[in-house]
Amino acid sequence: MIEEKKIDEKRQGEILSIRSKSKTLATKKMYLESYGCAMNFSDSEIVASILQDEGYSTTKEIENADIVLINTCSIREKAEQTVRRRLKNFLKIKRKKPELTIGILGCMAERLKTKFLEQEKIVDLVVGPDAYRELPKLIKELEDGRKAVNVILSTEETYADVIPVRLGNNKVTAFISIMRGCDNMCSFCVVPFTRGRERSRDPLSIVNEIQNVYENGYKEVTLLGQNVDSYLWNNGLSKKEINKLPLQNQKNNINFAKLLELSAKKCPNIRIRFSTSHPQDMGDDVLYTMAKYKNICKYIHLPVQSGSSRILKLMNRGYSRDWYIDRIDAIKRIIPNCGISMDIITGFCSETDFDHNQTLSLMNYVKYDFGYMFKYSERPNTLAQRKYKDDVDEKIKSKRLTEIITLQQKHSLHNNKKHVGSIKEVLVEGYSKKSKDFLYGRTTQNTVAVFPKEDIKIGDLVNIKINDCTSATLLGNKY
Ligand code: 5AD
Ligand code: SF4
Repeated sequence: MIEEKKIDEKRQGEILSIRSKSKTLATKKMYLESYGCAMNFSDSEIVASILQDEGYSTTKEIENADIVLINTCSIREKAEQTVRRRLKNFLKIKRKKPELTIGILGCMAERLKTKFLEQEKIVDLVVGPDAYRELPKLIKELEDGRKAVNVILSTEETYADVIPVRLGNNKVTAFISIMRGCDNMCSFCVVPFTRGRERSRDPLSIVNEIQNVYENGYKEVTLLGQNVDSYLWNNGLSKKEINKLPLQNQKNNINFAKLLELSAKKCPNIRIRFSTSHPQDMGDDVLYTMAKYKNICKYIHLPVQSGSSRILKLMNRGYSRDWYIDRIDAIKRIIPNCGISMDIITGFCSETDFDHNQTLSLMNYVKYDFGYMFKYSERPNTLAQRKYKDDVDEKIKSKRLTEIITLQQKHSLHNNKKHVGSIKEVLVEGYSKKSKDFLYGRTTQNTVAVFPKEDIKIGDLVNIKINDCTSATLLGNKY
């Protein structure tokens, strides 16, 4: 049954690729700009594919474009301000070229809906993350002189059959979405409102996409979801329906550990990463699968947000400090040398010095390899905005953030120093920012290494002898 379906999927893929090859010559140009998380970058590749079938090719020169699309992020106030500033730049271009179409995609489109058209007069098109298939129709509406909006969220859309047009700068690493939306409702987070309910994508379409990128020369994929540990597939049923099935039918469930195994076995020559893990849902089965397959990278991004159980409860994270520590211990036990990173929010509603010190002490316990650290930014309509007061003074937020960043830099340096003198396998991704004589790549733990180019090519998997490091980078030579 599974085999039959697989062949169907493959055929579907082949038919799609033939269709895109034989489509009419591209006559119009689209310029796509993405902000925010990897999911947004991956979505832009889906958008490029949908519009390519309509005769659009991509351009990196905004002046040459017929349509400019900005894929936006709402996660923090600052992210939205960046987009608004960018729109002001587009205004200058639109003045010179009034026929240029400007469209807003992604989370800001979903959050602000028609308000966008009122606030930002130069915007013609507002399309939410689940409505990208409607883009061709919406563009036609524009041609009829109407501004167009579609922000309807779906409980089913996964774009499983769309073959993304790869827009990334290197031809080495690719993003693959395995699910969409989020059901977690963390009290600070806008994502459940902008990306809707969680739904998982057909595993066979995922494995086929991994195989397809491998055949196209890529060396690494990152499987994307807001909470990959919550991935669950059983014949396209919703999670609610799956949970109601008799136990014997649940044997066919494919959870994240099984999806990883399926992918690692089917595509043994490609490196597999994933993001983001959730402490509440990350089970030992995922860790054992990671330990078992060499091609699954030994790296876990496990956002903690706070080291205080009281704050975690207010954040509605679904776990306590002790639970999180237990998950860290499990990683260290099952996958020694696993790279671990985090997200931390500082200055959440009612956070005291005691709570902040709890975060610092948790960091001292885990000693993360690196992290993404933010000041709390209140988001409209979230539970925190409705129920709690954003009452930590901005200066205190900044001071705590500095302390957290300083401590993380110390830990990153400490961890990197441990690698000095060892030999690391590195997948080469591109030229170092500082010099064309140097290349950079990543170890399985996701640490960046920089080394002289010599005869190494982008896309090679090379052994690098690590001679030195900074808090952010390993420095070495081909071994
Ligand atoms: N304020 C600050 N940071 C936030 N994040 C999500 N929502 C907010 C917010 N309102 C951070 C979390 C999350 C990461 C993607 O962004 O740390 O894990
Ligand atoms: Fe937001 Fe929480 Fe979902 Fe992550 S898990 S996207 S922080 S609601």
